[in-house]
Amino acid sequence: TTVEWEAESYDMGGHDTYMHKEIHEQADAVDRALRGRIDDRFSTVHLGGLNLDARDARAVRRVKILGCGTSYHAGQIGAQMIEELARIPADAEPASEFRYRNPVVDPDTLYIAVSQSGETYDVLAAVQELKRKGARVLGLVNVVGSAIARETDGGIYVHAGPEVCVVSTKCFTNMVVSFGLLALHLGRTRDLSVADGKRIIEGLRKLPAQIEEILAGEEQIEKLSKEYADAKSMMFIGRVRGYPVAREASLKLKEVSYIHAEAYPASELKHGPLALIEPAMPTVAIVPDDDLLEKNRAALEEIKARSGRILAVAHQEQEKADHTIVVPKNEDELDPILMGIPLQLFAYYTAKAMGRDIDKPRNLAKSVTVE
Ligand code: AGP
Repeated sequence: TTVEWEAESYDMGGHDTYMHKEIHEQADAVDRALRGRIDDRFSTVHLGGLNLDARDARAVRRVKILGCGTSYHAGQIGAQMIEELARIPADAEPASEFRYRNPVVDPDTLYIAVSQSGETYDVLAAVQELKRKGARVLGLVNVVGSAIARETDGGIYVHAGPEVCVVSTKCFTNMVVSFGLLALHLGRTRDLSVADGKRIIEGLRKLPAQIEEILAGEEQIEKLSKEYADAKSMMFIGRVRGYPVAREASLKLKEVSYIHAEAYPASELKHGPLALIEPAMPTVAIVPDDDLLEKNRAALEEIKARSGRILAVAHQEQEKADHTIVVPKNEDELDPILMGIPLQLFAYYTAKAMGRDIDKPRNLAKSVTVE
């Protein structure tokens, strides 16, 4: 399916920046990514342009996802979803790194190139190198008819609509949703049960309303961003599903506010970065209500014991945190889709308080078409 982009979607509609506008377009964007794709009869999804029949899908032994920046982070979440739902070993790697390490290209691996613009040179060059070596490469792309969409063997359009702000927000969310669809599809050609398929579909259907719920809490996030805007540096932590969310949130803050930020798996804190923790170095912690909740809480305690300030993004108030942004709970596998959204607003309001050029951060271009 293709979706026509309406000319009106280019005007500001009362928003002060494209970033703010695009953050607020996410419920509609996700709705568009789901539209016409869900198959309730078989608890799966149809992805028209995938070009991968059931036999091909079953023959896949590994999945390798390639992208840059935010798209790479979406790929990290996607890899986890594919492992969890389809039980196919999967990982993500920056496209440029992959290309320059003379990778072993395996015929049983499904390669997926992720890109908003579909024109990022490093990703395109990785696709071309893979094709040259005979690999099967799919695209997970936003811009219809772009170079990566054309050069891949098939793929999924993420249908985020036009994204103008240099900093990606709604496209990231739709990429992760699209990976959820792909993981469900691959899972249902293998061992994912009808009941689990149904559970994921119900979770996907809840997303647009839950996104609206998060955006309705904007005022709290605006206030919180003022509390933390004095920080010179911030730490972002998460574990497993929460870790790529932390990485993406830290990139968002860096890009728009120019505040230095680091992202670490919470489990790595005690292996070094804990030395940085002090009142002037606040931590943003991703704390989903899943089987790692107690482990995440233990990390918050370690930070508190060193007088670190903590802002938690969680499914329930966190006692050890100074502030908690409570987000609605979805299925565990889909939680990463929602947990980064308040932190897009956090980055936006921090940058706004600092008077930054939000839609065009210094030194950055919307798509990097050179090496
Ligand atoms: C996103 O906020 C960034 N500006 C950047 O990391 C971007 O995601 C990256 O350059 C990849 O772009 P693409 O998705 O168009 O390939």
